[in-house]
Amino acid sequence: MAISATRVERLADTARGAKRAGAQVTRIALDLRSLASVDAAVAKVFKAFGGLDVLVNNAGVTLRKAALQVTADEWEEVMQTNLRGTFFLCQKVGGRLIGQGAPGCIINVASTHGVVAFPNRSIYGISKAALIHMTRMLALEWAGHGIRVNAIAPGTVDTPSRAEALADPEVRQAMLDRIPLHRFATAREVAGAVCFLASPQAAYMTGQTLLLDGGLTA
Ligand SMILES: NC(=O)c1ccc[n+]([C@@H]2O[C@H](COP(=O)([O-])OP(=O)(O)OC[C@H]3O[C@@H](n4cnc5c(N)ncnc54)[C@H](OP(=O)(O)O)[C@@H]3O)[C@@H](O)[C@H]2O)c1
Repeated sequence: MAISATRVERLADTARGAKRAGAQVTRIALDLRSLASVDAAVAKVFKAFGGLDVLVNNAGVTLRKAALQVTADEWEEVMQTNLRGTFFLCQKVGGRLIGQGAPGCIINVASTHGVVAFPNRSIYGISKAALIHMTRMLALEWAGHGIRVNAIAPGTVDTPSRAEALADPEVRQAMLDRIPLHRFATAREVAGAVCFLASPQAAYMTGQTLLLDGGLTA
């Protein structure tokens, strides 16, 4: 398997975990803000593995800011990673798979912020809503080639990127109060949904978004 980030050195733990689980792991530097980097990363993966079975678009950046305060640079920063780079990564991978006549599976990691509105998350939410619609569009265009495209939309997941927001007990409690299951998701639960979508059990699913939100949007 290939794993990527802009800072590859931070992938050491993930690589160790995957190796322990029996995977052959290649770490690849990828910056979704650069289309040259996207091209290079896709070329490396196809060279190393000869093809690609499952692409998980998990990279994403967030922005917590009132719509009135957002700058054009912040809009670009979020959209370049969450949307533009992810679209062109899908395009490069989809094009190669179609060229090889190979089936494939793409899983986009969206968010409940792309489904329902929350205050101060407009740019992030817009990027994830577009990602959900991109999932439908690509699923339709590539279904005839055996390429399934689905998304997951997690609610709050207890990951380091959310630590700062969740450190405030009042904020934490207010967020928990909105969730019928009254807890945040774990990274393992998100990984479980990704594994399901990649598995033969989901062979008849494409263009869909699986909400993983403890009932938040029910
Ligand atoms: N945690 C939550 O509550 C939650 C809820 C719903 C959805 N999500 C979504 O789940 C995904 C993972 O979230 P997380 O909480 O695990 O965030 P995270 O810890 O910040 O991880 C984000 C990953 O994306 C990589 N990345 C960021 N910008 C990139 C770029 N331009 N090119 C390539 N890689 C880039 C980061 O690596 P580098 O910094 O080294 O580039 C990092 O590995 C995101 O798409 C997020 O929107 C998270």
